[in-house]
Amino acid sequence: MIKSYIKSISFHVPEKVITNDDLAQVMDTSDEWIKTRTGIEQRHSVGDQCLGPADLGAIAAKKALDKSNTNKEDIDFVIFATSTPDYYVPGSGALFQEKMGLNTIGVLDIRQGCSGFVYALTVADQFIKSGDYKNILVIGAEVQTTQLDFDNEGRGTAVLFGDGATAALVCPSVDDSGILSSHLHSQGKFVSELGTEYPSSKYKDIITVDNVKNRDHHIHMNGREVFKHAVRRFPEVILEGLTYNNLKLEDIALIIPHQANLRITQAVQKKLDAPDNKIFSNIHKYGNTTAASVGIALCEALEQKRVERGDTIVLVAFGAGFQWGSIVLKW
Ligand SMILES: CC(C)(COP(=O)(O)OP(=O)(O)OC[C@H]1O[C@@H](n2cnc3c(N)ncnc32)[C@H](O)[C@@H]1OP(=O)(O)O)[C@@H](O)C(=O)NCCC(=O)NCCS
Repeated sequence: MIKSYIKSISFHVPEKVITNDDLAQVMDTSDEWIKTRTGIEQRHSVGDQCLGPADLGAIAAKKALDKSNTNKEDIDFVIFATSTPDYYVPGSGALFQEKMGLNTIGVLDIRQGCSGFVYALTVADQFIKSGDYKNILVIGAEVQTTQLDFDNEGRGTAVLFGDGATAALVCPSVDDSGILSSHLHSQGKFVSELGTEYPSSKYKDIITVDNVKNRDHHIHMNGREVFKHAVRRFPEVILEGLTYNNLKLEDIALIIPHQANLRITQAVQKKLDAPDNKIFSNIHKYGNTTAASVGIALCEALEQKRVERGDTIVLVAFGAGFQWGSIVLKW
């Protein structure tokens, strides 16, 4: 049976850095509050460069192709995950395709919030397994800082998010490495706890002056409710993947979770009774980059040699929807 593997992976974050102290200049917050509650010290931002996720994704993708000596002409499909699309319609995948100068291959957009990369990688895995595709680019890219509410009313969410992109080249495995399993879940019951509701086609004017006044076009979140579900679902879906593969925590070299909040990661570690070196965190540098975060974390774990060839690792995410999932893979 065909398996898929990540042949190469890269990331890109814009140069501009917003520190916690910078945020304290524009809203009633402090470095101490943000660091203690979230572990975040800074995040990257496109600033006023007018760049969207397709732009950041293209930079990350070029690096991934260079790394693996792959010609863009060999790419036969693109899966683009973002929750902050460049356009309302079409999805960012089409813009990405144009920026990359790819030919008329198919592109698919994924709108699964923080679980976007795990969902996108799962779809790529299934496409590769079908035998019809050989080189799929999976992009997770996000431009959050242009739509956050950098005012006192938005401080509960604005301090959490940052911009960035990751790109993975997914191909048929040539040995026993690759994706072993993936488990995806969703619970739309909690859709109102985290999201951006406007612009919405449900309403005649899509977005009104009143929406803007009420700040309805910014992301909103019930932080405590998200926290509660995240610390339950992360360990649950990690264990689901391990059980499916007949593996124990000791068999796993590293768990790479979506970077939502250091306190969430620590609570997950505690629930699993995992040692410090078994769970990866880089949230202090980037904040929550939503669909990009798992890929960026995997890139840095590889750079730091926390993942070596032959290691079994778990990628895991939870976010808006609520939607969550895990992938167990042999590197
Ligand atoms: C967002 C989060 C850090 C807030 O922490 P919390 O301990 O739940 O804090 P609360 O929302 O209860 O707010 C506590 C106080 O801090 C204040 N506060 C909120 N944001 C603040 C900020 N940036 N700076 C300073 N004070 C802030 C609140 O207004 C509140 O003040 P009050 O007690 O006077 O009403 C936390 O709920 C969380 O991490 N949730 C998960 C979020 C997440 O990871 N989402 C990503 C999607 S996967």
